[in-house]
Amino acid sequence: MRQHRGEGRVWSVTGGKAALLICLAAAGVSAQNQPAERVVEAGASGYAGSTACKTCHADLWFNFYKNAHFKSIASGKEAPNHTGCEGCHGPGKKHIEAGGGKATIPRAFSLMNPKQVIAACLECHARDLARANIRRSEHTLNEVACTGCHSNHHPATVKNLLAKTQTELCYGCHQDVRAQFAMPFKHRVNEGLVQCTDCHNPHGTFAPTWGMTQRPRMVTQNVINEQPCMKCHVDKRGPFLFEHPPVRVGGCVACHTPHGSANAKLLIRPVVFTLCLECHTGAGDFGPQGRGIVTQAQGIHNMLDPRFERCVVCHVRIHGSNLDQTFFK
Ligand code: HEC
Ligand code: HEC
Ligand code: HEC
Ligand code: HEC
Ligand code: HEC
Ligand code: HEC
Ligand code: HEC
Ligand code: HEC
Ligand code: HEC
Ligand code: HEC
Repeated sequence: MRQHRGEGRVWSVTGGKAALLICLAAAGVSAQNQPAERVVEAGASGYAGSTACKTCHADLWFNFYKNAHFKSIASGKEAPNHTGCEGCHGPGKKHIEAGGGKATIPRAFSLMNPKQVIAACLECHARDLARANIRRSEHTLNEVACTGCHSNHHPATVKNLLAKTQTELCYGCHQDVRAQFAMPFKHRVNEGLVQCTDCHNPHGTFAPTWGMTQRPRMVTQNVINEQPCMKCHVDKRGPFLFEHPPVRVGGCVACHTPHGSANAKLLIRPVVFTLCLECHTGAGDFGPQGRGIVTQAQGIHNMLDPRFERCVVCHVRIHGSNLDQTFFK
């Protein structure tokens, strides 16, 4: 007997299969180097083929041709353990012989815990989703399994097999975010102009190099390590001859709320100069030159004169400039 996958479910390995394993070992094929299941299942009988499921699960079968997973049946080239219904549910012969039942099919998803679901799907999707750091994504760590977002048999969107249309899907668990996109200033997600996945990868991300101090929050990297914002706001990309450091260092979210805000231009503060003065205090935090002293009552910026409160009226190229160090043009 061999414990399969070690997650509570034991698939008994028959004498025949055990013999196969011994043969492989004798031939110097290391079972360690391959996914354990492949070795166990490769020579297995116990597969009935997807057409055998049609009789009793006709509704699922007759919709299956629309499903991306149908490709494995259509091609006719995949091994039985990677083909059609049994590619996900496991060998079904015993299930059919028993006349059905949840307990007789190796993978009845309704009986599986999140970890088992994720493992089952990643058997084939580990490679494409590894780029997203799926195993350490906030969703995986919080046991939001693939089936929390995808519905293989009853999808609302055939493309990507989503359980609900994207925005409703995400709002379903993120109610607070729904409220943010209802604020006076916002990205028009509810109107379909922008999508959550324009900025987020629900499968996870690696830590970005920008905004080192922030948690990644599963924010997608556009090109290598670039903030997703640049994809649409290309004029903010630069590189600028005269950069405004926080744009790159802290990222756009150093000054903007990405979802929605009561403040114009999605700024994190209602009044622009209070935002600027958070950094330009003159407290010597701008290097040896002691630049950015704008809080005094005299000098270039006489802060007793309300005119100077409207910083971006003079410093118009606040995201960086190719012409002027102080962002006047
Ligand atoms: C002889 C009829 C019959 C055939 C053929 C059949 N099934 Fe079933 N299947 C059933 C019955 C009955 C159930 C139990 C339904 C229930 O309890 O709700 C079931 C349940 C299932 C479940 C459990 C779903 C869950 O999580 O609750 C899966 C998965 C399944 N079948 C897959 C298959 C696959 C794959 C095939 C083809 C290899 C197949 N079945 C062929 C009758 C059949
Ligand atoms: C990509 C993996 C995958 C493939 C391929 C697949 N299933 Fe499923 N199946 C699931 C998942 C996941 C569920 C759990 C419900 C859900 O998330 O949609 C499920 C649920 C079921 C159920 C329970 C009833 C229901 O409607 O949810 C049955 C029966 C079933 N599958 C049979 C089949 C049959 C028959 C085929 C081939 C035509 C098939 N499955 C192909 C993943 C798959
Ligand atoms: C036996 C291998 C296998 C398993 C297991 C498997 N998939 Fe897939 N999946 C595929 C293949 C192959 C494709 C098609 C890729 C392509 O179009 O090139 C696919 C495509 C998809 C797609 C994209 C659909 C689209 O519109 O492009 C989604 C979503 C998906 N799978 C989710 C799942 C989920 C969720 C599970 C677990 C319940 C799962 N898969 C299990 C092989 C598998
Ligand atoms: C929090 C929700 C969520 C979870 C959890 C989730 N997905 Fe997805 N998945 C999505 C969304 C949304 C898309 C569509 C992305 C888009 O439109 O760009 C998608 C797309 C996909 C695709 C097709 C496009 C691509 O990115 O390759 C595959 C395959 C896929 N998911 C597989 C999986 C598997 C396997 C799991 C579990 C290990 C999983 N997903 C978990 C939401 C989710
Ligand atoms: C314009 C880009 C953008 C869009 C569109 C977007 N987000 Fe975000 N979201 C971000 C950024 C950037 C952060 C990180 C903010 C930070 O670190 O301060 C974030 C943070 C989050 C967080 C964690 C912090 C919190 O507020 O709880 C959640 C959850 C979230 N987004 C969900 C969503 C959902 C759901 C959608 C779609 C309805 C969505 N986001 C659309 C950019 C976006
Ligand atoms: C089934 C519930 C569920 C669904 C559906 C869901 N999420 Fe989540 N999401 C969670 C949980 C649980 C967490 C972790 C706890 C938290 O931060 O709220 C989380 C966390 C997040 C975070 C924050 C990560 C961090 O680093 O703090 C983002 C961003 C996010 N989800 C985006 C999305 C997007 C985009 C979608 C839609 C494609 C989505 N979620 C769908 C449950 C869900
Ligand atoms: C998918 C494209 C897209 C992405 C990605 C995107 N935006 Fe936007 N953004 C827009 C559009 C379109 C508008 C115009 C808003 C409108 O008219 O509804 C906008 C508006 C804005 C505004 C307000 C402009 C104004 O005049 O009020 C700010 C600030 C902004 N985005 C910042 C960001 C930040 C920060 C990010 C990254 C976290 C980001 N955007 C990512 C498309 C995008
Ligand atoms: C140092 C603070 C700061 C940072 C960092 C910052 N912005 Fe801004 N942004 C502003 C201010 C202030 C305004 C309002 C300008 C005005 O009202 O004239 C603004 C306005 C905008 C606007 C609307 C007006 C326009 O110029 O199109 C967009 C879009 C925008 N920012 C996107 C971004 C993006 C994308 C990033 C990241 C690449 C970013 N911002 C980083 C301060 C910042
Ligand atoms: C998150 C911190 C931060 C915020 C917020 C911020 N800045 Fe800056 N700013 C900097 C840093 C750091 C420098 C580089 C200082 C240096 O090189 O000595 C700088 C440089 C500048 C310069 C060019 C100084 C020079 O001569 O090189 C101007 C002008 C400026 N900021 C204006 C503003 C205005 C206006 C705002 C508000 C819209 C603002 N900044 C918001 C951090 C910030
Ligand atoms: C009436 C136009 C005007 C307004 C409004 C204005 N500034 Fe300036 N700012 C200037 C001038 C002029 C300089 C000097 C440029 C030079 O030396 O070439 C300057 C220089 C700076 C510098 C460079 C550092 C230094 O002290 O030499 C920073 C930082 C700065 N301003 C931030 C701000 C902030 C923050 C606000 C809003 C509280 C603001 N400015 C409002 C005109 C203005």
